[in-house]
Amino acid sequence: MMLDGKHILLIIGGGIAAFKSLDLIRRLRERGAAVTPVLTKAGEEFVTPLSVSALAGSKLYRDLFDLGDEAEMGHIQLSRVADLVVVAPATADLMSKMAQGVANDLASTLLLATDTPVMIAPAMNVRMWDHPATQRNLVTLRGDDIAVVGPNDGDMACGEFGPGRMAEPMEIVTAIQAHFADGPLTGKRILVTSGPTHEPIDPVRYIANRSSGAQGTALATALAALGAHVVFVTGPADVPPPSGVEVIKVQTAHQMLNAVEGALPADAAVFAAAVADWRVSSASDRKLKKSKDGLPVLEFAENPDILKTVAQMGKGRPKLVVGFAAETNDVIENATAKRKRKGCDWIVANDVSPETGIMGGSENAVTLISDAGAEGWPRMSKTDVATQLAARIAQALT
Ligand code: CTP
Repeated sequence: MMLDGKHILLIIGGGIAAFKSLDLIRRLRERGAAVTPVLTKAGEEFVTPLSVSALAGSKLYRDLFDLGDEAEMGHIQLSRVADLVVVAPATADLMSKMAQGVANDLASTLLLATDTPVMIAPAMNVRMWDHPATQRNLVTLRGDDIAVVGPNDGDMACGEFGPGRMAEPMEIVTAIQAHFADGPLTGKRILVTSGPTHEPIDPVRYIANRSSGAQGTALATALAALGAHVVFVTGPADVPPPSGVEVIKVQTAHQMLNAVEGALPADAAVFAAAVADWRVSSASDRKLKKSKDGLPVLEFAENPDILKTVAQMGKGRPKLVVGFAAETNDVIENATAKRKRKGCDWIVANDVSPETGIMGGSENAVTLISDAGAEGWPRMSKTDVATQLAARIAQALT
């Protein structure tokens, strides 16, 4: 099993999301991990000590000054027995204590005393998450090498909508598995763009394309499984983003370029997104209405070419830049010319003629074009294309 022999110290903070941590314990144990739970005082308001320790099949630690515990296992030792410390939910308060180095209860003392890696799954009200103080703490924690999973966007228990929902238990499990994945891409940072972009015509209409995001999502999953830290910049795709990767959601090509530039530097960058080549330069901030004066005229402007920008950036260019080419005819000739024009190292070319069923489908037949020439791969599932491409990327980076 993926987590056999791994020991996780799970600190459950005081948030409504604490109930999801019960499921997290169950899923970690199913995968072979041992879980030692620590429940904060505030956490006890949301889940009972009995349910936590029963699910963990372990003693629950609650109090810094519990003499019995100190005799059994001191807090310093407790903080170090684990292979990974996971804080879920990580409340704004816990994040703040961690960033400041405060140690005034068992959880914060363990976090200050530990010398093992720490991963947090933040959960809080959207305004608390967006508050400059929390964002400052987040930067500090990332700088301290603390891994952060989520939070996700969504409806919140407090009735608001936005970022702040704790990542789902399976997303946390995947991030934990990726943390332990000792693959050839461990320590590498890889950027992946995916999905279509939406270019607004007016507030309710947009121009889009048929990309589902399936190939980019499969590739991000395969790279993470080899140990990479994947930054996944995605337009509005049909398939949900993979878990265990850093997700940045965008709508337009311009937003995608900004997100990509913000995510660099990276060891490799793979551009699987189907970026709209044009945007409506005359996009209206009001809904266009039917009018007696005739039909509306849309004017277009060219979008930035994100792949080309990164492939030709000179200093700070990722070592390996990979583009995709969606062609309907003369696939190899067009894709070879595209590789030159864009300045990328590889082009993964595919035939997206409607009769192939590739765009929006589950299979792909690709040709990998590099300076060594064109290499045709047999038709296979998008997952298999992703696995093979991830293996080739690992070869190229090591
Ligand atoms: N791409 C990009 N930014 C754009 C357009 C495309 O990053 N504005 C990337 C895609 O993610 C893909 C590659 O460029 O990796 C090829 O895109 P494609 O649309 O096939 O190529 P174009 O440059 O648009 O060429 P053409 O329209 O002639 O096919």
